[in-house]
Amino acid sequence: MSTAPKIQLYKLLRSLSLAMDYQRNGLMRHHQRVALIASYIAREMQLEESDLPLLYCSAVIHDAGTSTFREKANLEKFEVQNPWEHCQKGAALLHNLQILAPLSEIVLHHHDRWDGQNPSGLAGNAIPLFSRIIFLADRVDVLSHQPGNILDHREQIMQKISARAGTMFDPDLVDIFLQVARKESLWLDLTSEFIDIHLSKRLRTCPLVTGQDEIIGISRIFAEIIDGKNPFTYRHSRLVAEVAALLARRAGFDPVQQKNMYVAGLLHDLGKLSVPEEVLEKPAGLSKQEFNIIKRHTYVTYQILGLIDGFEEINQWASYHHEKLNGQGYPFHLRGEELPPGSRIMAVADIFSALVEDRPYRKGMPRHKVEKILGDMVDGGSIDGDVVQLLASHYQEAVSLKDKASEGLRRPPDADIK
Ligand SMILES: [Fe+2]
Ligand SMILES: [Fe+2]
Ligand SMILES: [Fe+2]
Repeated sequence: MSTAPKIQLYKLLRSLSLAMDYQRNGLMRHHQRVALIASYIAREMQLEESDLPLLYCSAVIHDAGTSTFREKANLEKFEVQNPWEHCQKGAALLHNLQILAPLSEIVLHHHDRWDGQNPSGLAGNAIPLFSRIIFLADRVDVLSHQPGNILDHREQIMQKISARAGTMFDPDLVDIFLQVARKESLWLDLTSEFIDIHLSKRLRTCPLVTGQDEIIGISRIFAEIIDGKNPFTYRHSRLVAEVAALLARRAGFDPVQQKNMYVAGLLHDLGKLSVPEEVLEKPAGLSKQEFNIIKRHTYVTYQILGLIDGFEEINQWASYHHEKLNGQGYPFHLRGEELPPGSRIMAVADIFSALVEDRPYRKGMPRHKVEKILGDMVDGGSIDGDVVQLLASHYQEAVSLKDKASEGLRRPPDADIK
């Protein structure tokens, strides 16, 4: 029987949140940078070592309430318009999972101003300390995205922060920040290729994610962030996960592997967070250039899941879902035996889910149409006929998973068929 992976919570969140750090300009590493600035402030304040994991974990996932490049572009402005929505969304996502629940309140208040006027109703010291630290670190990071040498800009950044002590920011924290900002190392760490190494070294203790159920819980949160890119896919990752796990069970995978298959399904489109939503939202007729952008998503899933110890099998099952048995898939052009049974299941689960889901330009397809398309793909040598046969034997059960996959999710209003 396979063993369940064990992993540090911070490392898992840090790896997965990389997918959220893609913006129009590429990979901005915003979450890691905010965690780094927060860590400088925390050390200067001589916070207890045992408090650091909560601060770091909150910092590295604080914008969990955003999915689209549009939302992220808004947060890139120094004076953000209406940040409350993403704070609430992020806090709600984290709230229901025991291991992440302590992060929820910190995330909720991470844009609260010191002088009040906040939708949360809090002001001053009533705002959680870690929210105040993350808010300051977050705004410093936004200011530090400038061309050229960061050291040439730091005086100006320090002045801008200093001018808002007591209004936007906690004045004591601003003083502490101005102390650490004198160190060139802060700014050089921030713009360093090695940022990740510095961060990991600073966190000596951190809770472990103790089992598959916690990994599933965290993966479900990321599935919601991924599916938030596009209203029509609001439960796509969950449905793929349910269908893939069903097929794995029927194919005789052991219980641990079935859960790993569920995780792989939840995360298979993680890399879609690197794709602009206008490309994902296009109903049909993608140009060659647009399709080339889409093709990057499984590559990004592969690279990010590859960072997580114990995720080797999950990664193969998740990231090969657009590979084809005849070698015509992407991005690796694997063929035949190079595609393990779990990856073949995922490919069928993904296609099936997409066909039975509504899209802006069509309703979910009935059984005869779905089976015709899958049958043609088997004949063309792209997907595994045995897996398609297995699906046919449990077709109604697979379709009924649509309801299960929607549980607890709100269907976005603009996901209705036009
Ligand atoms: Fe934010
Ligand atoms: Fe942020
Ligand atoms: Fe995909």
